[in-house]
Amino acid sequence: MNEEQRSYFDKYSVQIEQVLDRLLMQLREMLEGISSDPEQVPFEHLICRIKSVESIREKLAHKGLPDDVDSAICHLNDIVGIRVVTHFIGDIYSILDMIYDNEDWNVIQVKDYIASPKENGYRSLHVILRVPFEGMPGEGMGVELQLRTIAMDCWAALEHKIRYKKHITETAIISEELKRCADEMASTDLTMQTIRDVLKESELL
Ligand code: GTP
Ligand code: MG
Repeated sequence: MNEEQRSYFDKYSVQIEQVLDRLLMQLREMLEGISSDPEQVPFEHLICRIKSVESIREKLAHKGLPDDVDSAICHLNDIVGIRVVTHFIGDIYSILDMIYDNEDWNVIQVKDYIASPKENGYRSLHVILRVPFEGMPGEGMGVELQLRTIAMDCWAALEHKIRYKKHITETAIISEELKRCADEMASTDLTMQTIRDVLKESELL
């Protein structure tokens, strides 16, 4: 948490950081539990962030909600964000099953943008959790867990970079090309999954 966040979250700062640390620990335990072979850890990398004050304010304004920390904690789904990037699509659903099996985690919503990609081609699986902590307003703080493959992550990073370059006006042709890239990468993901399944069946992996 930076100084600005610490001052915004104020009396909740320590607990928010503790919630994040605890979730990361539980998540790593879960992920490592998938396979006893350390070479077979089902993710490529994992990152996390606490939402920036600027982005909290923008979202509260966009939703017409009061601009204060209690309102942010009660209403926003992604005060804490964790992203797990996997090698294969199948790993995403194995992780989702484990999350469902974990009784400590209160899943309030799953957005499957892999089964139903966004119109622009965005793919990922988002799991929204509510995590309570002592003294907080409302029923729990919103945590957004994003699960995506390396290919989905690569596309999202590039699309984000292009979209936020303000001098590029997004024409229909650019949107179409971005969508085509997303579809091609999705097709590569499926092929990679098939290759892995075949190798697994023949016990080469
Ligand atoms: P915001 O999009 O953040 O306003 O929240 P929302 O409630 O609409 O949730 P949504 O499921 O659309 O996605 C939340 C997060 O997913 C975003 O903050 C991004 O990290 C990611 N995301 C969603 N759509 C896109 C997209 O089209 N491109 C990229 N690069 N990331 C996206
Ligand atoms: Mg959105």
